[in-house]
Amino acid sequence: MNYNIAVLPGDGIGPEIIEQAKKAITAVGKKFNHTFIFNHALVGAVAIDKTGSPFPTETYDLCSSSDAVLFGAIGDPKYDNNPAAKVRPEQGLLAMRKELGLYANVRPVATFSSLIDKSPLKKEIVQGVDILMIRELTGGIYFGKPQGRSEDGNTAYDSCAYSRFEIERIVKLACEYAMKRSKKVTVVDKANVLATSRLWRETAVNIAKDFKDITMDFMFVDNAAMQLIQFPKKFDVIVTENMFGDILSDEASVLTGSLGLLPSASIGLSTSVFEPIHGSYPQAAGKNIANPLGTILSASMMCDLAFNLKKEAGVIRNAVEKSIEADYVTVDLNRSDPKSTSQVGDWIADCILSI
Ligand code: IPM
Ligand code: MN
Repeated sequence: MNYNIAVLPGDGIGPEIIEQAKKAITAVGKKFNHTFIFNHALVGAVAIDKTGSPFPTETYDLCSSSDAVLFGAIGDPKYDNNPAAKVRPEQGLLAMRKELGLYANVRPVATFSSLIDKSPLKKEIVQGVDILMIRELTGGIYFGKPQGRSEDGNTAYDSCAYSRFEIERIVKLACEYAMKRSKKVTVVDKANVLATSRLWRETAVNIAKDFKDITMDFMFVDNAAMQLIQFPKKFDVIVTENMFGDILSDEASVLTGSLGLLPSASIGLSTSVFEPIHGSYPQAAGKNIANPLGTILSASMMCDLAFNLKKEAGVIRNAVEKSIEADYVTVDLNRSDPKSTSQVGDWIADCILSI
């Protein structure tokens, strides 16, 4: 079968790591007799430089007409250090989320036993951690209106809004994922303060009635931030609103000490986007040193969730695990005998073909 993949390398290390994921996907195509067609488009700072927009219409058109989107990273220090810049790369990301209706960001956080010593936490606390963090991505304070400044410029405001429909959609998705795992969902909110959080609780309780086997509990976000560090093993599926999810998913990502390894999927209304969770790491751009494993694992998630190619997804994941076991990894994981980004990508593609 043919699969059309929109490839958006973006900024910084994006192009280098994306290249390695393409090698893995191509190897899977060869092994299992699928045709993967890659079409490239611009996003982020490179898109601003060339077109003036961080998410140009041509990029939207390509994404929405593809079967899936493989995304690298966006962000450039020239914008971070310039608060006056009118157009910013991050706006491209938010526009992509809104325009493609990417309502759920799904991030698995699990330990790789051979990397357990990289965790900043004690081994006993993190060994066996297996969390699925689900963040609502197109609502809440990120997109609420009104937003802006008062006429005199001395007051600024953002609005947080959620509809029952938006909450139902994401809590249902969380319950569906939990059914394939240990059937536990933790809804994180701030219902002791926020009206939106109270609607989240009310709605989540109703959705849970349709999932009799699911145990659902509720936790305030400040408490969740603490418990994620103290007792990470007690969580299975976590579902939360946009801003809380932004913060907690970064927190969860460092538990296992393998930030460069974590993939994510942003589930869309028709097309979904797959990307590593790390950023554009501009200091490493062009040096062939960045860890490509998060992007390669995102390609595995793409095979699984967008194409329903479970076996193929497993083979990619397996090849990644083998590269870690063989210690054939980049400098962030092996200081004394590091391999380059492209060496790791080649090794994994070969491994896929030989498994
Ligand atoms: C993320 C990022 C974005 C967000 C930024 C770059 C707008 O931090 O994907 O988590 O806050 O959602
Ligand atoms: Mn973030």
